[in-house]
Amino acid sequence: VGAVALSSDVTLRVESDDVRYLEPEGEIRATYRHASSHVRVGEGADAGAPSVVRVSTTEKVFEFRTKSKPRKLGLMQVGWGGNNGSTVTAAVLANRSGTTWATRTGTQTPNFFGTLTQASTMRVGSDDKGRDVFAPMSAFVPLVEPTQIVLSGWDISGLNLKDAMLRAQVLEPDLIRQLAPEAEKMVPLRAAYDESFIAQNQKVRADNIMESPAYTKRQMLEQLRADIREFKQANALEFVVVVWTANSERYSEVRPELNGCADTLLASIEKNDAEVSPSTLYAVASILEGCPYINGSPQNTFVPGCLELAEQHGVLICGDDFKSGQTKMKSVLCDYLIGCGIKIKTMVTYNHLGNNDMYQLTDGVMWKPKSASKSRVIEDVVQSNGQLYSQPGEMPDHVVVVKYVEFLGDSKRDVSEYTSEGFMNGHYTSIIHNSCLDSILCAPLILDLAILAELFDRVRVRPCARDAPESSEFVKMHPILSVLSFYMKIPLVRPEEPIINSLNRQKSCLENMIRALVGLPPENHLLLDTKIA
Ligand code: NAI
Repeated sequence: VGAVALSSDVTLRVESDDVRYLEPEGEIRATYRHASSHVRVGEGADAGAPSVVRVSTTEKVFEFRTKSKPRKLGLMQVGWGGNNGSTVTAAVLANRSGTTWATRTGTQTPNFFGTLTQASTMRVGSDDKGRDVFAPMSAFVPLVEPTQIVLSGWDISGLNLKDAMLRAQVLEPDLIRQLAPEAEKMVPLRAAYDESFIAQNQKVRADNIMESPAYTKRQMLEQLRADIREFKQANALEFVVVVWTANSERYSEVRPELNGCADTLLASIEKNDAEVSPSTLYAVASILEGCPYINGSPQNTFVPGCLELAEQHGVLICGDDFKSGQTKMKSVLCDYLIGCGIKIKTMVTYNHLGNNDMYQLTDGVMWKPKSASKSRVIEDVVQSNGQLYSQPGEMPDHVVVVKYVEFLGDSKRDVSEYTSEGFMNGHYTSIIHNSCLDSILCAPLILDLAILAELFDRVRVRPCARDAPESSEFVKMHPILSVLSFYMKIPLVRPEEPIINSLNRQKSCLENMIRALVGLPPENHLLLDTKIA
């Protein structure tokens, strides 16, 4: 029967009593019926004792209002001059100008492969010939065009973006040469810096900083806020998203009197407390300026006071630590093995590469958050299968090793060995070797995150009549944007929300959320019509 792939210039119009496209307000109004099942796990049921567990079906109705016009978007990257930051920049410039470049194997053209928003599709439904029809995400709900994003950011290194691209050794020299006239004019803003939070080996590149005692933390915060405002004004931007793609920091302490609530955090900044990290300063500045903040590294930027501040200001935040190559593979492989009833006993994974981020992780203190982040990425998949993992707390033996190998630069090598028990305890071993430039995996995530944060900031929602009084107000989505968990190693969630690591579940959640915005039911892959009669 085949499938139909709609092109990227298509716009879908959902024809349903539940959906209205309002002109000229430019708003999509959709009523969405959310069906789910509720389980009452009684005493003893989770401990394996025979018992009847009651399950009931529930339906809640929500009304979504989504402004259909994307805003003129600015993206500020913290760590703009790094490998990721400079690769994002090159991709935007090259795609915008249609620059092609020569390599020894032929001429290359720019693309946005690796992004969900620009290079993947979602199933819309079936056509009258029974064919699956697929369309890009932007056909469902209009999204910002990545080539239209205006770029800026901060870096402790003052190199302009052309030189930063050359330093990164990610992209071809012929491309960088052509982008140079524009990239040379892009110079990172001065960074909030505290040498106690990143490795000493980064000190040599720190020539573009606000540092104590010349700057207090409050002055750094004020300057970061002014930077955001000036960027917005100078480029007539309607919206700005800030993404941390700077080096992993050490953990900062969490204490009630230091950062336990928004007030204490702001007071600690005022008092110039040494334990307020630069990343928390950037996050606070973004929140106070109403800009979503995305944390691409594993450190605990979102201390309790920072979370409360985001809630108070209704600003979207998302974290922690980009989920790029190896972790994605890991969560897919665990879904496959454990989902098929095969018991993973050991997972041993090695990375080696030689980029600056890896160099800074050679410092043991900085490695701690990364190690914790990399180790926890399969917990939900293991915990979901009590047939295989029946003992309390039982987990596969999970070993994570990383090594700095200078010669390899950004080219990450990842070797992973999974040893499992199959039918009648027969062993099953898989060894996977990946090799890819680290930033080629990560840069697309940054663009997607900025584009999707802009989308979800346009969404308003309210529970409908049956569940709440008609008068209930439309509100923004909860500030903790766990719908973007797909992009994060350790998704930041609300205390009452489970952390989902499974890549399949994460992707379904994002896609079904986008379908809900236009009143479409969640994708269930049943194709039931074809299976009956
Ligand atoms: P990089 O070392 O090339 O770039 C980081 C940049 O941040 C550097 O230019 C550095 O000068 C700058 N920087 C450090 N502290 C700063 C501060 N306080 N303010 C402003 N700038 C500061 O690293 P890369 O490869 O671009 O990675 C960036 C981050 O993304 C790292 O934290 C890494 O852990 C995270 N990440 C990267 C992944 C990938 O590349 N595949 C995957 C997951 C996370």
